[in-house]
Amino acid sequence: MVAVAILAAGRGTRMKSRLPKILHNLGGRSLLRRVLDCTSEIEPTRQLVIVGYGNDLVKASLADVPNLEFVHQTEQLGTGHAVQQLIPYLQDFQGNLLVLNGDVPLLRPQTLQSLLQTHQQHQNAATILTAQLPDAKGYGRVFCDGQNLVTQIVEDRDCSPAQRQNRRVNAGIYCFNWRQLEQVLPKLQSSNDQQEYYLTDAVNYLSPVMAVDVEDYQEILGVNDRKQLAAAYDILQARVKDDWMASGVTLIDPDSITIDDTVQLAPDVVIEPQTHLRGQTVIQSGCHIGPGSLIENSHLGENVTVLYSVVMGSHVAANTRVGPYAHLRGQVTVGQSCRIGNFVELKSTSVGNHTNVAHLSYLGNATVGDRVNIGAGTITANYDGVSKHQTYIGDRTKTGSNTVLVAPITIGHDVTIAAGSTVTDNVPEDCLVIARARQVVKPGWRLKPSPQPPTQS
Ligand code: UD1
Ligand code: CA
Repeated sequence: MVAVAILAAGRGTRMKSRLPKILHNLGGRSLLRRVLDCTSEIEPTRQLVIVGYGNDLVKASLADVPNLEFVHQTEQLGTGHAVQQLIPYLQDFQGNLLVLNGDVPLLRPQTLQSLLQTHQQHQNAATILTAQLPDAKGYGRVFCDGQNLVTQIVEDRDCSPAQRQNRRVNAGIYCFNWRQLEQVLPKLQSSNDQQEYYLTDAVNYLSPVMAVDVEDYQEILGVNDRKQLAAAYDILQARVKDDWMASGVTLIDPDSITIDDTVQLAPDVVIEPQTHLRGQTVIQSGCHIGPGSLIENSHLGENVTVLYSVVMGSHVAANTRVGPYAHLRGQVTVGQSCRIGNFVELKSTSVGNHTNVAHLSYLGNATVGDRVNIGAGTITANYDGVSKHQTYIGDRTKTGSNTVLVAPITIGHDVTIAAGSTVTDNVPEDCLVIARARQVVKPGWRLKPSPQPPTQS
């Protein structure tokens, strides 16, 4: 039986933020969410999150996760004090407790698995994840005897200059035999530079305590300030991009591209420079995205091209071309083999198959049929100042350039709308509609020459 406890009560002063540190976003998920997700593969029987600073926000951010237990640490008196708060919750618990700092977001699930395995194999009182860091500044240093058994952990600020030379650090990820830890938690003291109760001091009372080095030290980098947040993002991006390239995605100038690790890409997708893929985005084979595009929470079918465009919360079906300079937002769906072109905005609109909206249009709250041609500069006037109204456009209909469709309005199938029309009433199918003032020509009419201004003397 394994229980997981995540320490997430601190403010994270070094972030200089009102938002609790562990809620800062790293590539689409908060630091805390990343740590939590990492533990799910070990299928813990209990999941406890220790909250304090900004606990309402923290709880709200995890509202969708079932069976989480929130434990309040009302005053943040240190990591040891945080774990002491678990005592009443785990009174009947007989098993191992995995404790994770909430600010170590790059950890891989396999690393937790092997920590747990080592712990169980050796029946340790505690097993501690450690790493040899090139720059150990800010981390607790781990001291071991010849058998890799931990004798002491000393925080950076409490280290003597000689101790500081040790580059083996505490990752802030631990596996404890809960019954044994429970006994020693009350013994922790706050006689250190920060006057806090350190969880790391528990090793002074437990035996055996084993250290396990992580293979890739980048996994255990903690995020304490914005610079470390940016460094973590770089590491994450390198991982994500390496994985996609290995599975057949072409990235042109990878350094200029960002991809959230929630994005799904098929082989033979090509991503051009300055392109950003975010959230729950799925891109199918043969798509060519960018340069200069942002795709968020969207689904693109096979062979879609997107050039210098923003696509958010939308579905675009196979073989459709988007851009340059198009903006799709608010649950747009576009059918197959369409063209959504230059300076076109689609909002909460569905477009059928083989339909073109090629230039300078705004379609909002519209339903457009198949094989429609939306002429340049066609606009749905969907907002009357109070509410939004719907526009329906039937199959094979053609709107002339500079058409305004004043919603609510329904235009039938096979309609042709003359250029420059402002259409205010429903139009039946199969007709021509002209809704504009007739051109007037006045022969011989000229502007009268203006009278000469009086000359100044
Ligand atoms: C801690 C470790 C250090 C280790 C480093 C790894 C201790 C004493 N030190 O230091 O050895 O190298 O992590 O990243 O444990 N928290 C609470 N309640 C509190 C204090 C902290 O929940 O009262 C939470 C924080 O929200 C954070 C985590 O515990 O998620 C770690 O706290 P932090 O202050 O960042 O510890 P470090 O100084 O980084
Ligand atoms: Ca930290």
